[in-house]
This record gives sequence, C-alpha cells and structure tokens, in this order.
Amino acid sequence: MSEERTQKPWGGRFTQPTDAFVEAFTASVDFDRRLYHYDIQGSIAHARMLAHVGVLSEEECRAIVEGLEAIEREIEAGEFPWSVALEDVHMNIEARLTERIGETGKKLHTGRSRNDQVATDLRLYLRDEIDAIRAEIHRLQSALVDLAEREAETIMPGFTHLQVAQPVTFGHHMLAWFEMLERDRARLADCRRRVNVMPLGAAALAGTSFPIDREYTAALLGFDGVCENSLDAVSDRDFVIELLAAASLVMTHLSRFSEELILWSSQQFDFIELADSFCTGSSIMPQKKNPDVPELVRGKSGRVYGHLMGLLTLMKAQPLAYNKDNQEDKEPLFDAVDTLKGSLKVYADMMGALTVKRERMREAALAGFATATDLADYLVRKGLPFRDAHEVVGKAVQYGVVHGKDLADMSLEELRRFSPVIDADVFEVLTLGGSVAARNHIGGTAPEQVRAAAARARARLAAG
Ligand code: ARG
Repeated sequence: MSEERTQKPWGGRFTQPTDAFVEAFTASVDFDRRLYHYDIQGSIAHARMLAHVGVLSEEECRAIVEGLEAIEREIEAGEFPWSVALEDVHMNIEARLTERIGETGKKLHTGRSRNDQVATDLRLYLRDEIDAIRAEIHRLQSALVDLAEREAETIMPGFTHLQVAQPVTFGHHMLAWFEMLERDRARLADCRRRVNVMPLGAAALAGTSFPIDREYTAALLGFDGVCENSLDAVSDRDFVIELLAAASLVMTHLSRFSEELILWSSQQFDFIELADSFCTGSSIMPQKKNPDVPELVRGKSGRVYGHLMGLLTLMKAQPLAYNKDNQEDKEPLFDAVDTLKGSLKVYADMMGALTVKRERMREAALAGFATATDLADYLVRKGLPFRDAHEVVGKAVQYGVVHGKDLADMSLEELRRFSPVIDADVFEVLTLGGSVAARNHIGGTAPEQVRAAAARARARLAAG
C-alpha cells in the first residue's frame, strides 16, 4: 500500500492513530462515494480556476485534470480502491490523485476545504436530481392529461366526506391531480434556484488567502452565482430541507392518489382496474389481485416525511459554521430522492396502463342522489329561495331512501308532491349528463371544460 492510502491527509498534528471503531464510525465514504462525479467535476473546475489566477501552472492543471478524469473512469469501471481509512469521497479521490500523478496532486486542495467542497458537491448533485424529478413529474402529468382527454365524458360520482356528492367527469378528477403536480413542479423549480449557488471559495469557513476567482469557477460549473457569505456557505443546508419539504408534498399527493386508486380498485367501488403488471397476488387466497404499488407509495410517504423531520432536527442547534453533524444530511437526502423518483416513475407507468370502468362509474353515480343539488338549482330557477329548495329536495331524498328510488326514477307525479313548480322538464336536470354539462365554466366539470382544461394543461407542459 502506498503512503497516501495509509496516512490521514490531516494526520500531521496527531501522535496516536484513530481508534479502529471511531474510524468506521466517522467515515462517510460508504454513502458519499455516490457523489464522486460531482466531486470530480468540482475539483476540475477548482484546478482550472487556480491555473487561471496563476496559483497552479498550466502544466500542473493539465496533470490534475487528466488524473481526475482517469479516476472517474476507474470508479465507473468498478476498479477504484475505496478506503474507509480515507474517511470520505473527497479524501479518497484526492489521495488517489497523488498516487497516480505524484506530488502535483497534493496541490489540488490549495485554497479550498472539504467544507466548501462537500457543500458544492451536494448542490451539484441536487441540481441534477431536481431536473430528473421534475422530468418524472412531467411524465406523470402527461399520462394524466391523456386520461383526461380520453375520459372527458366519463361520469363518476364526485365525493365529499367519501359520500356521493355530485356527478363529476373522470377527466376532471384526473386534472385535479394534474394541478397538484403542477404546483410540485413549480416548487421544485423554485428550490433549484437556491440550490444553484456556489459555496466553493468559502474554504473552511472564512475564505482563503489565495487570489481566487469564484465567479470563474461558478461559470465553469454552471452555477447562477456564488454564496455571499463564507460562514453561511459552508454551514447552510436549507436547500436540502427545502428539497425534502417539496418532496414531502409530492409524496402527500402521490399518497392521496394511492388512497383513491386503492378504493377504486376494490370490489366495493370497482371503478378501475390496475394492469396486472402493477399488482401482485396472495400466497394463500387464489382470487386476490392486490394494489401493491399504490399501497407501497402511500407507505413510502412516511419515509420522506421522516427525512424532513430528521434534517430539521439535524440543523436546529448547530452554531456556525461547519459541524460534523452535517455529514448526517446525505443518507436521508439520497433516500428521499431515490424514493421520490421511484414512486414517480412507477406512477407514470401505472397511470399509462389504467383501465377505466365507465359503466360501473355511471351506475355508482346514478345510485347516490348525486343530482339532488341540480334539482335544488332547478327549483331556484322556478322562483324558490335556495334554502326552501334545499328543504324540498331533502324531503324528496328522504322519500327516495324509504322507497329505494333515486330522484330520476321518480315519476313526475311523485316529484310534484314535494313542490308544485316541478314540471316535465325536470328530468333534463336529473340526468347525469345534464348535471355535468351544466357546470360549464372555467374550473367546472363539464366535458367541454375538461377538454379545454386538458389543452391548457398540455400547453403548460410544453412550456417546460
Ligand atoms: N464527509 C464530510 C461531510 O460529509 C466532509 C466534510 C468534512 N469536513 C470536516 N471538517 N471534517 O460533511
């Protein structure tokens, strides 16, 4: 083993070796090695900047850049000798660089610290992940708009309190989900703006005595700007918390969708069928087809909320500037990102393969007095004050419950018992189609509105 492999880069002031358990306890390389690409990207930009300001020679810079590129290939080929003794991804790569290119490798860390390095790596990582997450949300939204267009005329019962309320169109319901995700996508874009600011140059906490050019490095790395204050730059993890908060809301939405899909695919509702490829069976009950995917996504929301709580707690008592506590930010963040991306991916695929049971939805909408409000509105148009109309319809519903008849099943004579202003034209408003078509304004459930809303939704997706 070379010297770089056995000696701590910070070992100068120590006289005793690290306790073996402490070494493993304090190491992060097992999980932060996943940042290798961003660590190398950041180091290459840092070396180029040092050459640009004359701290490194062009030759030294070239050797460092080539060495780092070779290391990246080595990592990707699975041939990199990761070492727990070297603590984290940063020191592993730096030690390897010196092993490969010699003394020049030791110059890379000039004017920087692992504190600003790790904060930079994390932001570069998160910037890419936010783009990937937003792309998955976009894909799910497209699947929902496809469904909305296809099912613009499909009538289902709309619920409040999970009791049948008024008829709505299935397409309208899908576009409600679209709106939730549209806010999520916007929230993530907003979060990205604060992620994309560069801490590098803050060094350990106070900045550096070398004549660095932070704007130059930031431009190379595609950052929108640099962190204004060095103490804040190395200690800030607000951007991780913001991401976790935004991720928690996406998971809240997916969990709510899951709840509905689970209910709808039950024998009691029977509104939809999930594709076999997204369900599993029971090892004992041969008839079972379980909605595992939505159940699992509903369950996974808890993990992401937990990570948000974890990070808030991690940060709340930290004095400025960097503290080792911050190393605990990574596993929750990585797990939240993986959980979210996985949940979105499976949802986009699953919604693209959904069977909608139009007849069953229609039957259910016919059964629950869903057009009672339409009858009340009809009476208002015939001159009754709304409160009186409400009372009249309530009586009619009570009669229907006792006699097992929905409003549309009653004869004109039966209906007139509750109000003499009712005429034969009442049946137009008691039909499901009439009920939904009447809600014909922006944001309403009428098929015409759903089609227009779906077109606007597509335009919003196309705008990015
Ligand atoms: N592995 C560390 C982390 O994840 C890197 C920064 C270490 N800095 C230090 N001064 N010990 O936070």
